[in-house]
Amino acid sequence: MNLRRLRLNANIRDLVRENYITKNDLIMPVFIKEGLDGKNEIPSMPGIYQNGENAFLDEINECINLGIKAVILFGIPKLKDSCGSDALSEEGLIARSVRKAKETFGDKIAIITDLCFCEFTDHGHCGIINPKLKTVDNEATLEISAKQALIHAKAGADMIAPSGMMDDIVITLRDALDNNGFSHIPIMSYSTKFASAFYGPFRDAAESAPVANEYLPKNRKTYQMDTANAREALLESLIDEEQGADILMVKPALSFMDIIKTVKENTLKPLCIYNVSGEYSMVKAASMNGWMDYSTLMMEILTSFKRAGADMVISYHSKDAAKILNG
Ligand code: PBG
Repeated sequence: MNLRRLRLNANIRDLVRENYITKNDLIMPVFIKEGLDGKNEIPSMPGIYQNGENAFLDEINECINLGIKAVILFGIPKLKDSCGSDALSEEGLIARSVRKAKETFGDKIAIITDLCFCEFTDHGHCGIINPKLKTVDNEATLEISAKQALIHAKAGADMIAPSGMMDDIVITLRDALDNNGFSHIPIMSYSTKFASAFYGPFRDAAESAPVANEYLPKNRKTYQMDTANAREALLESLIDEEQGADILMVKPALSFMDIIKTVKENTLKPLCIYNVSGEYSMVKAASMNGWMDYSTLMMEILTSFKRAGADMVISYHSKDAAKILNG
């Protein structure tokens, strides 16, 4: 049996290639920090920046010029308190930023908002703490999440992406949006999100690391999923599909390719995967040390997500990948 015949020539290899990453698949995360002048490189994520309230527009403009179709916004507000008030105000950082982005760019790029409270709370957890149960209170957090979703929608967000792993978040947001004139706004649910060590650098970037306190540990294990579980991972995504999620998600990506494949095989909804901060940092660190070739490694990884079943990829590599795809 000769399988190498089809590998001898680059043109023929292209003919038989099964999977591609394209610019249509890429979503670039953008960090916006209140009160920052210009931009700040994130030490654990070389090449990725916290952007001030003007600089983030330049970042989005660059994405548009590279042919990227969507960004997902993360805010770092000055005010952090127990219930994430900044996220609940129409004058809050994300509301202002979405309005500015839509005024400046219109429909040139899709503006997705991450919907969570960890960047907005002083304790760094993803909602309101219930001291008796020693966890994030599901009901109370659903209530404020619905408010936050309406603020994002009113500001002009094209899609809302709840990432807090609260039970019944999708049906709660769908009802709130539908009952307030936003039935046209899609929900991309972080449907299967693990309590992963790969989020470390993001928490530097978003200044959102959970603080250990008398009620809760310095991790999100009471609401995000155990990384060891595969059947539960599928169940999480299927429940969100049933509740009306328009797009499902698996996060992180690289250590969870089996989950990506299983979710894809069990849904007819589009599937997004989040190539998270720690995955980016590992690739950057290795290539900055000269241990691996950055571009080749990045494109291999991004293509492997498509092979595993991803329809779209949130990745800090998005701009670098678009540059390569543009030749
Ligand atoms: C907010 C949120 C997180 C990420 C995306 N949205 C952090 C977390 O759950 O701690 C992580 C993204 C990354 O690591 O790149 N909840």
